[in-house]
Amino acid sequence: MSTRFEAPLVEWYAASARDLPWREPGVAAWPVLVSEFMLQQTPVARVLPAYGAWLARWPTATALASATPADAVRQWGRLGYPRRALRLHACAQLIAAQHGGVVPASISELLALPGVGAYTAAAVASFAFGQRHPVLDTNVRRVLTRLVTGTEPAARSSASAAEIALADSLLPPAAERRAATWSVAVMELGALVCTAAKPACELCPVATACAWRLAGRPPAGLPRRTQRYEGSDRQCRGALLAVLRNAPGPVPESALDHCWPEPEQRHRVLRSLLADGLAESHDPDLIGLPGDRSAD
Ligand code: ADE
Repeated sequence: MSTRFEAPLVEWYAASARDLPWREPGVAAWPVLVSEFMLQQTPVARVLPAYGAWLARWPTATALASATPADAVRQWGRLGYPRRALRLHACAQLIAAQHGGVVPASISELLALPGVGAYTAAAVASFAFGQRHPVLDTNVRRVLTRLVTGTEPAARSSASAAEIALADSLLPPAAERRAATWSVAVMELGALVCTAAKPACELCPVATACAWRLAGRPPAGLPRRTQRYEGSDRQCRGALLAVLRNAPGPVPESALDHCWPEPEQRHRVLRSLLADGLAESHDPDLIGLPGDRSAD
């Protein structure tokens, strides 16, 4: 359906959107998929250099499929949440083995790829193939919920059925990529204007029709508690993984001792890295990245 929001928002997008490489016209589906993996939990500014370096090294799924998982984890570097590197590598292998190296276009085939959930499948089908699917990340959920219901979305990690129905009801037709352009425009409005903490309603192209602004911008319920990073298992994982990434091959387990002072936490976190497939143990008593060449 076309709504009164489409024209002003798409016009605003044309004038104000950031120039991001994965949005350039004609970008192939593989780079779009890589960008969506990286953007899942990492801000655009940090993704930009990592995205360029990754695609310079592996421009296609087939190229990445012939690398080792260790290469992928090393190249991922300090982007965070490194299981994404393993899943992207597994995606490349599946695309190479089962799809002739071509990213599939259907939602069901995209959903069957490792690490691809509802958001990523819809994003790739829309942005790479111009299809019509509701693309619901946190920003889009916030913008649409504010705009139409006048409230803040509930603090949950994935979209509710009502949010999906709302997004679908506002989605323009697929023709001429209108649905895809609408989705990326809503996403950009959420990133630049209709932000969670400091919404800039004075810059918003749909402010006069926004139920949330008209309701006096009612606050969200309890804010989500942000988790402490200092001393956390996540920080410890990062420290252990940095040692494995920076070594040319597997290292003795004792080489990890110096990077984290708390032995019990270090052991527990190492076990979680092994369980997640981000580290591998080699005989005798060596730990390395998955698929890494042995030092011997
Ligand atoms: N453009 C397309 N997908 C995006 C995303 N997830 N974040 C920012 N910009 C995008």
